[in-house]
Amino acid sequence: MSVSATPRDLMEEPLRIKGAWTAKVITLFPEAFPGTLGLSLTGKALDFGLWALDPIDLRSFGAGKHRNVDDTPAGGGAGLVLRADILDRALSMAALNTPADHSRWPVVYLSPRGKPFTQATAQTWAAGSGVTLLCGRFEGVDQRVLDHHAVEEVSLGDFVLTGGEIAAQAMLDATVRLIPGVLGNAASTEDESFSHGLLEHPQFTKPAVWKDRPIPEVLLSGNHAEIAKWRKAEAERITQERRPDLWAAHAGREP
Ligand SMILES: C[S@@+](CC[C@H](N)C(=O)[O-])C[C@H]1O[C@@H](n2cnc3c(N)ncnc32)[C@H](O)[C@@H]1O
Repeated sequence: MSVSATPRDLMEEPLRIKGAWTAKVITLFPEAFPGTLGLSLTGKALDFGLWALDPIDLRSFGAGKHRNVDDTPAGGGAGLVLRADILDRALSMAALNTPADHSRWPVVYLSPRGKPFTQATAQTWAAGSGVTLLCGRFEGVDQRVLDHHAVEEVSLGDFVLTGGEIAAQAMLDATVRLIPGVLGNAASTEDESFSHGLLEHPQFTKPAVWKDRPIPEVLLSGNHAEIAKWRKAEAERITQERRPDLWAAHAGREP
């Protein structure tokens, strides 16, 4: 960045703090980044260099005059598959200056076949040094490159997106907000859904009565012990009602 950088330049070219947690994203649509990650607290943190984002343009590794990245599926069938040789070049470039240990720097293909992404995944990723995310398109990617690079598959949920970019942004948002300093004092990650294995209690704010609906009295009592008790009971009730799977896991954990 030049010494005479203006605030506008800073917006366009985020600061880089050496060693900051970094996301490398291999994509055919680098212009989709930072996308929503450039807004609000994650965007400010990106500008301040608390984390870094490296979109890697898959097209630039393409073959021939047209920079081809895909071909028809072996065995026939509809659509196109991203080629192993092209992806290999992009993954090898992304691997430069990253730890070989995938537990410190996971290398992930975003895929509906993958292990579901959870708050625990976000916590593990945030505790490392960074992550490399490979966004698929079309019918997906050649299996051989995933095996060769020991790429882990992670899913945003049981549905099929057109490409991995939205999944990448959702997972990065969940991860980056856990990096110390990103949320500042604006919010806490200690007391929200999933942090204690429960969904969050209901929230209220002014006005005290809205369309004949008052805020529960206990929340206006100033009695912090009673408020904590009410919130815990509500969190348990909501979790039991909406997510019996989470409730069973939580109940199993309690002494
Ligand atoms: C149309 S999808 C390919 C779906 C693939 N043929 C299948 O049936 O599993 C194209 C790309 O979107 C991304 N994608 C789709 N659904 C996803 C999900 N639930 N989680 C993460 N990434 C997803 C993947 O990167 C995938 O390669």
